[in-house]
Amino acid sequence: MSNVEEGKIIKPSTEWTDTAGNKINAHGGGILYHNGTYYWYGEYKGDSTYRNPKVPNWECYRTEAGGVSCYSSKDLTKWKFEGLVLKPEMKDTVSDLHYSKVLERPKVIYNDKTRKFVMWLHVDSSDYSKAAAGVAVSDSPTGNFTYLGSIQPNNAMSRDITLFKDEDGKAYHVYSSENNETLYVSQLTEDYLKPSGKFTRNFIKSSREAPAVFKHNNKYYILSSGCTGWDPNVAEYAISDSMLGKWKVFGNPCSGKDANITFYGQSTHVLNISGKKDAYIAMFDK
Ligand code: GAL
Repeated sequence: MSNVEEGKIIKPSTEWTDTAGNKINAHGGGILYHNGTYYWYGEYKGDSTYRNPKVPNWECYRTEAGGVSCYSSKDLTKWKFEGLVLKPEMKDTVSDLHYSKVLERPKVIYNDKTRKFVMWLHVDSSDYSKAAAGVAVSDSPTGNFTYLGSIQPNNAMSRDITLFKDEDGKAYHVYSSENNETLYVSQLTEDYLKPSGKFTRNFIKSSREAPAVFKHNNKYYILSSGCTGWDPNVAEYAISDSMLGKWKVFGNPCSGKDANITFYGQSTHVLNISGKKDAYIAMFDK
């Protein structure tokens, strides 16, 4: 099966291949549109999936962290592998990027002022107890990204994350915090490298994960999943007049067969298609 028919049609729920015929390996991904090209960044997962024996109290299934991959495309159907733009660390076991650790949900936005591509990602210890956000920068969308380190933004845990860049150039880091129970919306500094200190706590104790943010008709949308590890659950969306404003929850946006388990998927990104009015693509991991 292929992701595309004659290079024109996107086919969800099938195996996707790149232009070299290899399986696309970019989980928990996000897409950046820059100067006429789409760049898809995601987790490059190692081959083996195993349960971490050191974590008895929940099903901590993991693979080796293989860094962040990037694929480029002009039309969203043909994807060229651009390589690993943030490479895993093979020797230094202390590094956040060591393959034995957790590296998830990388997202990249472009800073018009500094002209840097800025990546935020979830970095964690192999038992998910570190709960931090890592930051990396690059002069080019295809890397190499330089890793700057990790923090617990606003002195709070950070696991599932996304980034959102608004039309006014302000950018936000949205992340599951407080043991994944509460979702933070945190405005970034002008260079997008740090939290600005302005943040809100949302959906308190509702355990929302896998946030994906988009804007439509001057309203802001957050799509998210429930919190059941790798098992699919019910999606939910919320709307606000501003990123740091109050979010009103509207429930499950899916309908039809398997809507209550998001068609076996979990949100990772919503792409606003440049040049097409009201055209969005929601991306889910299955
Ligand atoms: C999910 C989360 C994934 C990953 C997984 C680990 O809830 O959305 O990104 O962290 O847990 O079990």
